[in-house]
Amino acid sequence: MRPAPETGPEAVKLWFCPNDDLAPGIAATLAAQWLDEHERESAAQFLFERDRRQYVVSHVLLRRVLALESGIPESEAVIWRSSRGRPFLQKPAGGLPRGGRELDFNLSHAGGQNLLGVVRRNRIGVDVERLDRGDQGFDIIVKTFAPEEREWVDQVGPGRARDVRVLRLWTLKEAYSKARGFGLGMAFDAFAFRLGDDRGVLGFRPPDDDLSRRWRFVELEPVPGVLAAVAVVSDDDETVLELRHGFPWARSAPQRLPIPRAPAGPHQAPGTQRNTPF
Ligand SMILES: CC(C)(COP(=O)(O)OP(=O)(O)OC[C@H]1O[C@@H](n2cnc3c(N)ncnc32)[C@H](O)[C@@H]1OP(=O)(O)O)[C@@H](O)C(=O)NCCC(=O)NCCS
Repeated sequence: MRPAPETGPEAVKLWFCPNDDLAPGIAATLAAQWLDEHERESAAQFLFERDRRQYVVSHVLLRRVLALESGIPESEAVIWRSSRGRPFLQKPAGGLPRGGRELDFNLSHAGGQNLLGVVRRNRIGVDVERLDRGDQGFDIIVKTFAPEEREWVDQVGPGRARDVRVLRLWTLKEAYSKARGFGLGMAFDAFAFRLGDDRGVLGFRPPDDDLSRRWRFVELEPVPGVLAAVAVVSDDDETVLELRHGFPWARSAPQRLPIPRAPAGPHQAPGTQRNTPF
């Protein structure tokens, strides 16, 4: 069967799924059927059951979504990893059975929440973090930021408002770095975001090796106290964001949100928005 052509406006598809949406027994049963050897070995290595559950739910979610999107059954999707650990879906010789030739995905999981992003063209990076992590790591995180970002964070005193600033920057930086395949292996002070006080990215200074790409960024707060960010490259001005909530047992209509145009120039201006869809 020939793959369907890639037509229509580009869609950035997101699945936001808390661990609690999948009962532990069901997650374990699906994992036993769907996960590959690498995933099973990774799951077995966790010291704490809570961490294993997080891993298992996120990978069951991943395989389910890849099946819905690509037409490859959950247990048959072959996932390979770059030298830096970034996972990719291996395309069968004849192409993907559903939805066009290309597919890129990125996964993030933290504190019982899972976020998966899928695009059919170009690259995607996502990151999700919980605000209520005490002061765990906030000061260390800030030290990795660019000077102008540190200055912006330091405009507010310790407390929730500062934590929000730190995590808004952190999720955006991780999403960008993950889209590029670097993970945490990137110098986080080599690029910078300029954020609106309440919402929205006002500017983006890319690192020197990445001046030509048209990045778009979206900030989300899918449930109160959980911050997420998405980074995608897109030249398509009609690009839309499709957000789905919960485990995708069946196909469901997404919530559709616009993605603002990618602005030009090294300090990209109004190319981001913050959505609070729930
Ligand atoms: C990926 C990384 C950013 C994880 O950060 P985190 O905030 O703890 O985790 P998140 O939940 O947001 O993301 C984890 C997911 O990102 C994906 N991922 C892993 N490496 C990635 C990379 N280099 N780029 C993009 N995504 C990556 C994986 O799906 C991973 O989930 P999994 O381990 O369950 O499959 C971090 O572990 C990292 O930098 N890894 C790279 C390590 C490296 O450079 N290795 C060199 C070769 S040994």
